[in-house]
Amino acid sequence: MVLTEVTNELQTMFDNARRVAVLTGAGISAESGVPTFRGGGDSSIWTWRGRPVTELSSAELIASNPTLVWEWFDYRRGMLLDLQPNAGHYALAQWERRFEEFTLITQNIDDLHRTAGSLNMLELHGNIWRARCLRCRSTFEARECPLEQNPPLCLACGNAARPDVVLFGEMLPEGIFERAEEASARADLFFVIGTSAVVYPAASLPIVAKQSGAKVIEINPEETDISFLVDVTVLGKAGEILPQFIKERG
Ligand code: OAD
Repeated sequence: MVLTEVTNELQTMFDNARRVAVLTGAGISAESGVPTFRGGGDSSIWTWRGRPVTELSSAELIASNPTLVWEWFDYRRGMLLDLQPNAGHYALAQWERRFEEFTLITQNIDDLHRTAGSLNMLELHGNIWRARCLRCRSTFEARECPLEQNPPLCLACGNAARPDVVLFGEMLPEGIFERAEEASARADLFFVIGTSAVVYPAASLPIVAKQSGAKVIEINPEETDISFLVDVTVLGKAGEILPQFIKERG
């Protein structure tokens, strides 16, 4: 079913749900001004100093030139500094307080869900404001932008650290995908919001949910690779659609 707004039937599904899981992608942050990777918009930022993002955010480059990787991340952090969560992020933070179980799974590293007040979050691809020691692997907040020290040094052992994000050619952090899979399998209602659903393993989560019996609702201005599988696609912007579920109805 393809809709353009939250109908009474959809609202009833939402109101009756007990265990909800949500997968978000770059599209939830689009209305805050964060560029998406795909699906229209300005993709010029994904080339920097003549290098594509796949090379800049890669396991190879962090091994050979961590300073350059940090310069690239500093540039991206600089773009995020003044951005604020939008109505979609805030709605999800409110949803969390309504259900018996609620898990927010995000592919985004921008931290806007946390800023909006979400608590129970699985950040599949890490967080751009965190660093991880290249030697002892401990993680710590690194919010200074621009960085005073490049690479920043581990607070525990003093060794160089890297951004605590998943780079191209790397696995997801240990255990996190398993937790996301578990939440998806337990959900009776699963939302897939603002993701083109082409990057795996994240894109397999709506499939897991569907196979485990959940109703799956997609929210995106465009149909995607996952639209064929979902029960409902709501064509629209996250910041406009998500608040409709918690709007007082007269
Ligand atoms: P994409 O950039 O692939 O997809 C963004 C999706 O958001 C598209 O389907 C758009 O139609 C949709 N969209 C745009 N504006 C929207 C709005 N206002 N409301 C709702 N949806 C909107 O982003 P992801 O699927 O998140 O990985 O990309 C997945 C991964 O690809 C990223 O996490 C990143 C990248 O490689 C890593 O960096 C490891």
